[in-house]
Amino acid sequence: MSGPRKLFVKSYGCQMNVYDSNRMADVLAPHGFVETAAPEDADLVILNTCHIREKAAEKVYSELGRIRKLKEAAARDDRPMTVAVAGCVAQAEGEEILRRAPVVDLVVGPQSYHRLPALIDRLAREGRVLDTEFPVEDKFDFLEPPSRAATRARGVTAFVTVQEGCDRFCTFCVVPYTRGAEVSRPVAQVVAEVERLAAAGVREVTLIGQNVNAYHGGGPGGAEWSLGRLLQRVAEIEGIARLRYTTSHPADVDDTLIAAHRDLPQLMPCLHLPVQSGSDRVLTAMKRRHTRAHYIDIVERLRTARADLALTSDFIVGFPGETEQDFHETITLVDHICFAGAFSFKYSPRPGTPAAVMAEQLPDAIKVERLSRLQTAIDRHQAAFNARTLGKTFSVLLEKSGRHPGQLVGRSPYLQPVQVMAAPALIGEIVTVRITEVGPNSLFGVLDEPLSAARPGQTALAAAGA
Ligand code: SAH
Ligand code: SF4
Ligand code: F3S
Repeated sequence: MSGPRKLFVKSYGCQMNVYDSNRMADVLAPHGFVETAAPEDADLVILNTCHIREKAAEKVYSELGRIRKLKEAAARDDRPMTVAVAGCVAQAEGEEILRRAPVVDLVVGPQSYHRLPALIDRLAREGRVLDTEFPVEDKFDFLEPPSRAATRARGVTAFVTVQEGCDRFCTFCVVPYTRGAEVSRPVAQVVAEVERLAAAGVREVTLIGQNVNAYHGGGPGGAEWSLGRLLQRVAEIEGIARLRYTTSHPADVDDTLIAAHRDLPQLMPCLHLPVQSGSDRVLTAMKRRHTRAHYIDIVERLRTARADLALTSDFIVGFPGETEQDFHETITLVDHICFAGAFSFKYSPRPGTPAAVMAEQLPDAIKVERLSRLQTAIDRHQAAFNARTLGKTFSVLLEKSGRHPGQLVGRSPYLQPVQVMAAPALIGEIVTVRITEVGPNSLFGVLDEPLSAARPGQTALAAAGA
């Protein structure tokens, strides 16, 4: 291989794309690629794309317009630039990308990242290449483990994919088509990856999957393990002080997961549990396979297991056929659960999904109006949740330097950014912070005593009572 080549990767969409982008960089590193933050200097540009809503997918084409100018400028300097599109848009509309965007050299689907070096070699021979196969081999067997150096550079928190794909086929969603059928990684592979991360200084791990609590990976001796059991095992890994997981489906919350929230102090007391709608009529049309009452029941059981648990969620407004009454039920659910935060989206018809061809598609004006009413309700609960943190003491994992000299930024157990004056040597430590001010986007606090000497199990205790 020739001298170092520069790689620029940009991620859109969910955390799995962030994870995959890092793995792509790891796969390419032994082939002489080093990452750069400047696309104009890159020899290889990868856009890791998202297809979840129309807006997300269209972003790719506007970004490709910008990249085309960079590629032309590089060509004038006699520097060839290779442009690749990866991720869910690549999977869903690979051929169309090649047709619409001549700037693109390579289209690579999420199941083919381990083949990137070979695909780049093929480019030299074939011109343009498309690889969106769902191969029989398991990509996780081939993906480079996160390297020690790379993980250290990437900080004290990390994502680990434990499950990929989805078998649920909610009627609005493209994920089962772009990511394929559910696959769980074996327990031993997950444990080995988290151990490597811990050895490289990572303190907080988020287990990720499109439907992460459908996890059913093979454990030692061949038994299938649930996510709850996997969390128990990962919590035993030395150095890992905090655990999270995302994204969960309400119908896949089982007793082992609820027990994990009760028994594992390392498991942070916040859970993203998308509900989409508060109306049973709409939930049925979405094929969510849970009712409003079922959702409320799960939340109550989780809160009984862990009293300080905060819930966040996702909502879709303007699903085909949603009436004013249906929407009203979404608002009353928001008020009933008191979410600590939520993402809300206007329904976006996605090609190939059943909801896209349902009668009674709603006009955009109704979606806009309902979105704004829903967001007002969510913002009110979020502001109240943040306001209640004033004067409280939290365990905060310090992640990086802040904007002002002497300031560090960390995260509360509830993922709120917390700004605090502290020595840079404390990055990677879990400290207790008393919250003295609540800003619109972050909390401000003062340092109590460092907690790093405490057992990992004790670090979350400071948050109790929030
Ligand atoms: N696996 C997760 C969701 C992944 S997609 C789950 O089961 O909940 C993230 C969010 O995008 C969804 O929760 C949903 O709120 C939103 N979303 C998905 N498809 C959408 C569509 N067609 N239009 C609008 N929002 C959508
Ligand atoms: Fe999409 Fe989530 Fe439904 Fe799967 S469970 S189809 S990822 S919304
Ligand atoms: Fe988007 Fe694909 Fe993730 S569609 S949300 S990048 S699974």
